[in-house]
Amino acid sequence: MAHPFIDQSAAHDFLKAAKISILGYPNLKPSYPNEWRAFMKLQKVVLSAAALLMVSGSAFAQFQNAEKAVDYRESVFTVMGTHFARIGAVVKGDVPYNKDEVAKNAAIVSMMSTLPWQAFGPGTEGGKAKPEIWSDNAKFKAAADKMQLAVADLNKAAQSGDLENIKKTFGAAGQSCKGCHDDFRKK
Ligand code: HEC
Repeated sequence: MAHPFIDQSAAHDFLKAAKISILGYPNLKPSYPNEWRAFMKLQKVVLSAAALLMVSGSAFAQFQNAEKAVDYRESVFTVMGTHFARIGAVVKGDVPYNKDEVAKNAAIVSMMSTLPWQAFGPGTEGGKAKPEIWSDNAKFKAAADKMQLAVADLNKAAQSGDLENIKKTFGAAGQSCKGCHDDFRKK
């Protein structure tokens, strides 16, 4: 019998995270060929480990109980929200634009955006999560996917250092947060 707190899609999320992190470092290759090679090697090890987990169907992430799952996802959202807001301050003009800072914050948001979902497994109701997450799970998953794509776009813009595009993609990402919060998060 499947353990209720084991989410086997976590390995899939991890693969997605690895892919996003590759997209996030397009400038590594020409400027730092040695680092790039080491990075690609590491990437290969990580990918094959994740693939093995998917094939064997064994658990990647486990939570002892619902409370631990709620803690985990709220922590991830808090870190993600903190770094997202730092980009927001630049977009609003409250903080001067610094390419490296925004690129770092966007990479963190991008990595974090892949993590909360493994902590919404069956039987993990609690926190500010609405019951519709479980009763209308396909819609919730679609909203999660939409946000991850929007954040990946933001990360690409941030790594390339195009402020106009950062503003545009930040707006779209923010909409994707709000859309899910309106439907699936208690006030
Ligand atoms: C697919 C749905 C979904 C998307 C997309 C989403 N969130 Fe959330 N978020 C939630 C839910 C559900 C909670 C409540 C979790 C809980 O309390 O268990 C939450 C909680 C939070 C919290 C509060 C954490 C706490 O400690 O209570 C922050 C901050 C947050 N989200 C930020 C964001 C940001 C920033 C984005 C977009 C970049 C985002 N979220 C996108 C569903 C989503």
